[in-house]
Amino acid sequence: MVAVTLPSLSGEAKIGQVRFQEKCAVCHGKKADGKKGLGPPLVHKIYEPSHHGDGAFHLAALYGVRAHHWPFGDMPPIENVTEQDVAEIVVFVRALQRANGIN
Ligand code: HEC
Repeated sequence: MVAVTLPSLSGEAKIGQVRFQEKCAVCHGKKADGKKGLGPPLVHKIYEPSHHGDGAFHLAALYGVRAHHWPFGDMPPIENVTEQDVAEIVVFVRALQRANGIN
């Protein structure tokens, strides 16, 4: 849905990238660039750290998200994803955001 440049990634961000592909990309897109009809881009001003801190990612994975910013419907809780997985996913998403001017 949005054009996202993939930066070179740190080791931790690379692990996060793998987890993200497994658990999140089906709705949020491989580069967190969004999937039409399924989920929003996380590389988006709405999700910059001051609007959605890292805690928002943990809560989203654990409890799901009630639709409020987008017309895609609710995000369900994500099964079999640990706190550690989400922490790594956040490192990946923040790296993508920074590389695309979202700080
Ligand atoms: C079944 C589709 C689906 C999957 C899988 C999914 N999401 Fe989402 N996610 C959504 C949708 C839809 C929204 C937007 C809700 C809204 O604000 O309208 C969303 C919103 C979010 C938000 C914003 C939360 C907020 O407080 O507004 C975060 C963060 C997020 N997702 C992270 C993740 C992560 C991390 C994963 C993988 C562990 C993931 N999502 C997997 C569909 C999905």
